[in-house]
Amino acid sequence: MAQPQNRVFSGVQPTGNLHLGNYLGAIRKFVALQESHECIYCVVDLHAVTAQLVQENLKNQTREIAAAFIASGIDPQKHIVFNQSQVKEHAELAWLFNCVARMGWLQRMTQFKDKAGKNAQNASVGLFSYPNLMAADILLYRATHVPVGDDQKQHLELTREIAGKFNHDFGVQIKQYGHGEEGYFPITEPIIEGPATRVMSLRNGSGKMSKSEPSDMSRINLTDSADDIAKKIRKAKTDPAPLPETMEELTERPEARNLIGIYAALAEQPPQSVLSEFAGQQFGTFKPALAELAVEKLAPINAEMRKLMDDTAHIDSILADGSDRARIIAQETMREVREIFGFLG
Ligand code: TRP
Repeated sequence: MAQPQNRVFSGVQPTGNLHLGNYLGAIRKFVALQESHECIYCVVDLHAVTAQLVQENLKNQTREIAAAFIASGIDPQKHIVFNQSQVKEHAELAWLFNCVARMGWLQRMTQFKDKAGKNAQNASVGLFSYPNLMAADILLYRATHVPVGDDQKQHLELTREIAGKFNHDFGVQIKQYGHGEEGYFPITEPIIEGPATRVMSLRNGSGKMSKSEPSDMSRINLTDSADDIAKKIRKAKTDPAPLPETMEELTERPEARNLIGIYAALAEQPPQSVLSEFAGQQFGTFKPALAELAVEKLAPINAEMRKLMDDTAHIDSILADGSDRARIIAQETMREVREIFGFLG
C-alpha cells in the first residue's frame, strides 16, 4: 500500500461532557481539515477504560462524541467516523508497539504522572501504555497529520519516536518487502492549536476549561440549552474594569482575556478587532453580546446533536459503517506489519 500523502487522524475520548474548549480547540479544526485532507475521526473507547475500568454510559458517551462530530459538520460519508473498539487491529498494533517503545520513553510522559498522581503503583498498566495505543491509532492508518490540543504534544513525539525506531530496526525487512527507502511508517506531523485559542474555565481564567472541573458553571457544554449558555456567561467571573483598547492591557486580566478570546474564536475574528469594537464598555454590555453569539453558533449544533442522539439505531449504523471502512485500511497495514515482523501465517 502506498503511503498516503494527506491523511488526518484524530481521536476524542468518550468520557462525558464535551464542552466549548473541545469544540473550538479540536472539533472545529477537524471540520476545516475535511477540505484539504482525507480524514479519519475516531471515538477512542479503548482509551476511556484506562483510567476508570467500569464506564456506566460508555455506549451513549460514544454515540455522543460521534453525534458532536457530525452535528459540527464532519461528513461521515466522505470521511470516516468510527469507534476504536470495533476495529481490533488497534489493540493488535498497540501490542506490537509495547515491544517497540522503551520503558524510559513512557516513564517520561507527563500526562501519566498527572493522571496517576501519587498512586502510580495502583494505576492500570493500560494507563501507563496508553501512548502506545495512541501511536497505534495514528500509524495503523499511516496518518500524516494529527490535529490535537497542546497537552497531547508529548504523545505525538512518542508516536514519531516509535515510527522512527520501527523504520530503523526493521529497515532491512521494509526494503525486502518493497516498502521504499523512507521507511514504512510516516513521521507524523502534529497540528497543534496555539495557546491563543485555548479556552479557559469560566470560574478561573488561569485553568483550562475541563470536563473534570467539579463546577458545571465553569464550562459551556455542547449539550447546554440556550438558557444555560446565557446563564453561565452572565455569571462568568470577570473584574470591574471596562474593556481596554489593546490585548496587552489584558495580560493581567485572565478572565477578561478568556471571554474576549471566546468571542473572537466564535466570531472567527482576531481578538484585537473584538476589543476595538467593545473598548471602553463594561462586562454588563459585553456579556449579553457574547451570550447571543455563543447561542447563535452553538444552538444549531446542539439541536442536531439531540436529533442524532434520539435515533440511536441511525448513529450506530454510521459508526458500524465507518468501522467497516476503517478496518479495510487497518487490515492492510497489519498484513504488512506482520510480514515485516516475520510472523508465520
Ligand atoms: N489522547 C488523546 C486525548 O486525550 C485522544 C487520542 C487517542 C488521540 N488516540 C488519538 C488523539 C490519536 C489524536 C490521535 O485527547
